[in-house]
Amino acid sequence: MKVISIANFKGGVGKTTTAINLAAGLKNLGKKVLLIDVDPQANLTQSLGVTEDIKNSIYEVLRKEAFGEKTSITDVLITASGLDVIPSSLDLAGAELELASVYGREQILSQLIAPLTAYDYILIDCPPSMSMLTINALVSSDFVLIPLQAEFLPLKGVRSFLNHFKLVKKLNKRIKLLGFVLTKYDERKKMNRQVREELEKEFSENMIFKTHIRSNIALANAQEKGMDIFTYDKNTNGAKDYSELTSEFLSKFN
Ligand SMILES: Nc1ncnc2c1ncn2[C@@H]1O[C@H](COP(=O)(O)OP(=O)(O)O)[C@@H](O)[C@H]1O
Ligand SMILES: [Mg+2]
Repeated sequence: MKVISIANFKGGVGKTTTAINLAAGLKNLGKKVLLIDVDPQANLTQSLGVTEDIKNSIYEVLRKEAFGEKTSITDVLITASGLDVIPSSLDLAGAELELASVYGREQILSQLIAPLTAYDYILIDCPPSMSMLTINALVSSDFVLIPLQAEFLPLKGVRSFLNHFKLVKKLNKRIKLLGFVLTKYDERKKMNRQVREELEKEFSENMIFKTHIRSNIALANAQEKGMDIFTYDKNTNGAKDYSELTSEFLSKFN
C-alpha cells in the first residue's frame, strides 16, 4: 500500500481533477485504488456524481476516531462512478476547531488508514491550505504529488508549501516529494514554458513529471457529468494525458 497526498495551497490548479483521473487510470490498469476526499468543499465527492451533502462522510469517522469511539473508515466507504471513495461533506469544515484540542490530532487519519493494506494506492485529495486536515493527510502519506498551473503566482504557492512540508517531515519522516505535475498546460504560452524552465532549474529533473496535462475542456465537462475522463471520452487530450501520467506515476514505483 502506498499513500499519496495530492496537495498545493492554491485552489484551481487541478488537484481534484488529478486525484480522480489518476485513480481511474490506475483502476483501469487493474490496481486497487481508494480515493479519500479531505477537502470540506467536497469537490471530489461531488465530481463523482454524489450531488447531495451526505451524512456519512470522513467527518464522522475522524470524529469518532479522535474521541476514542470504535470506528472504521470503511463504515463510510462508497462506490462512486466505479471508484472506491471516502467522501467528504460540508460539515468537515468544523473538524478543524473540534479536533484542535485532541491529543495526537495530527495522526487521526493515519490511524484510520493503517488497516487498509488491501489497496495498492490510496490517493488523498487535500484542501488548498495548510489546515489540520492537510496535516493529517500528509502525516498519513508516503508521498506528496503537487499539481501546479504553470504561472508565476502558483510557483510562489509551491515555495510556501515546501516550507511547510519541511515542518511536516518532523511529524512524518517517511514522506517524500513524488513530483510536480504541470496542469492546464499550453506549450504555446511563453509563461507556461518559463515556469517549467524555472521549476527545472530549482528542483532536480526527476521531480517534474514529464507528462504535462494540457488545457482540455473535456476534463471540466467530465467532472460536471460526474465521471472520470476515460469513462466520459477516452479519445480526448485529457484522457491521453492522464493515461500517460498514470504510466509515469507507476514507473516511479518500480
Ligand atoms: N487540464 C485542465 N484543462 C481544463 N480544465 C481543467 C483542467 N484541470 C482542471 N480543470 C478544471 O479547472 C477547475 C479546477 O480544477 P480542480 O481540479 O478542481 O482544482 P483544485 O482541486 O486544485 O482546486 C475545475 O473546473 C476543473 O474541471
Ligand atoms: Mg479540489
